[in-house]
Amino acid sequence: EGDEQTRRKRAAAERAASAVQDGAVVGLGTGSTAECVIQALAERVKEGLRIVGVPTSLRSERLARSLGIPLIDLQDATRIDVTIDGADEVAVGTLDVLKGHGGALLREKLVAVASEREVIVVDDTKLVERLGSRFAVPVEVVPFGWRVPAQALEALGGRVALRSVPPEGEPFVTDNGNYILDVDFGPIANPAALANEIKTITGVIEHGLFIGIAHEVIVAGAQGVEVLTR
Ligand code: A5P
Repeated sequence: EGDEQTRRKRAAAERAASAVQDGAVVGLGTGSTAECVIQALAERVKEGLRIVGVPTSLRSERLARSLGIPLIDLQDATRIDVTIDGADEVAVGTLDVLKGHGGALLREKLVAVASEREVIVVDDTKLVERLGSRFAVPVEVVPFGWRVPAQALEALGGRVALRSVPPEGEPFVTDNGNYILDVDFGPIANPAALANEIKTITGVIEHGLFIGIAHEVIVAGAQGVEVLTR
């Protein structure tokens, strides 16, 4: 990743963080762009902004805590005003989003659907015509008998890989103690229909297709920062 992409991530992150209002309950996303948001929010907290963060991963929780952002768990939040998160792909026409390359998709989606607003921050390399163009769809499954949902996902036309961690190649384990199947469908013609089909498979807990969830996408490119709304 070049310096320019890092600069763009930061520009999108700072734009999103600057819109957060005093007193807000803020969902804190996961990934390198979301970490830029957490850093920008922490700067504002040092300057006096009062917010409470709801983390979407143990990693973001640790970062936010180390930077002095007050936190609560999702089950203790009576409302979430806005969640700011990254994405792996954003479909430009619909603002449907593919997430979970970082493995945090279940908590990210739980916090997203509980939020008044879901704001996605990306650099322009993440924009696609069709979801699935560059990334496989991450599907979180129970470890017990994971080959059962894997076969059902293959029957839907996907190429399935159990996510593993180097160097030994043991299965990647999510914050929730589950496995991730990365399912390559190629460019997806109808993501909403596929999302529903995946959701009905026994053993599947959640998947990384965020359909109709994002309200706003903040994109940083060569021309500056642009805000896409639905
Ligand atoms: C985490 O599970 C993902 O959904 C991340 O939001 C996604 O991978 C984006 O990460 P980057 O900002 O590092 O690209």
